[in-house]
Amino acid sequence: MKIFNDIFELIEYRKGLKGDVGFVPTMGALHNGHLSLIRNSIENSDFTIVSIFVNPTQFLPNEDLDRYPKREKADIQICKLAGVDAVFVPSSSDIYQKSEPVILAPNKKAYILEGAKRPGHFDGVLRVVLKLLNIVNPTNAYFGKKDAQQLYLIQNMVSTLFLRTKIIPCEIVREEDGLALSSRNVYLSDKDRKKALNISKSLKLASKAMMKGEFDCDVLKNIMKETMKELEIEYIEMVDRDFNKIDKIVLKNSIILVAAKVGETRLIDNLWI
Ligand code: PAF
Repeated sequence: MKIFNDIFELIEYRKGLKGDVGFVPTMGALHNGHLSLIRNSIENSDFTIVSIFVNPTQFLPNEDLDRYPKREKADIQICKLAGVDAVFVPSSSDIYQKSEPVILAPNKKAYILEGAKRPGHFDGVLRVVLKLLNIVNPTNAYFGKKDAQQLYLIQNMVSTLFLRTKIIPCEIVREEDGLALSSRNVYLSDKDRKKALNISKSLKLASKAMMKGEFDCDVLKNIMKETMKELEIEYIEMVDRDFNKIDKIVLKNSIILVAAKVGETRLIDNLWI
């Protein structure tokens, strides 16, 4: 497996690859959620490239950039064992220049939900994803459905900027007890982890209610609020696949999104219906 720190060395390597290139951008601290993206890419591509870059521009000043888990050696080992062809670990000073054009996420859809709680976050995400896609020039890039709004905004950027990469959404991976995998789960104490299970439990209960024919979003929200009452709920919201808020769930075109704080840890989860 090749390891690149230098952007232009990676570009040269990429030029020499004949066949489909799958790309999995990550911020490291790899878990089984990332591994499922990587496996998906390996299965469907001739070559797989993984990037590890904790992107400073997507963190707000009061967020966890400094304590975000960093495990570069272990991450590289995981990629090697998984059969990745190349890992790209650029430095922040190579990715960002002092003076450069900046892409801004579309106002309406990037400043609701996650974007309302973390204003500017998606500007940083799109900025780095655009750069990474330009550097790696992949055939396909793999993103998890857990970051549903991020996925939507990246798909929107790729189609409106006429980028050539195909974005492949991948299913959410959960622990056996239902907790959605996230690099931030390592912050949870045992007690908080137990409390955090109420997030996926609330989505399960909403799903059960829908199976019984309940599609009214207010009713579903109340069921979920009750289950999550020990947590600091930031939002429970229902949207269609274009991220417009909805009052009634429409099958195959809705997403239920949740963000909540458990202790100091902020978690998100969702259910695609
Ligand atoms: O989802 C993530 O891990 C990050 O937002 C991404 C897409 C790697 C951009 O930094």
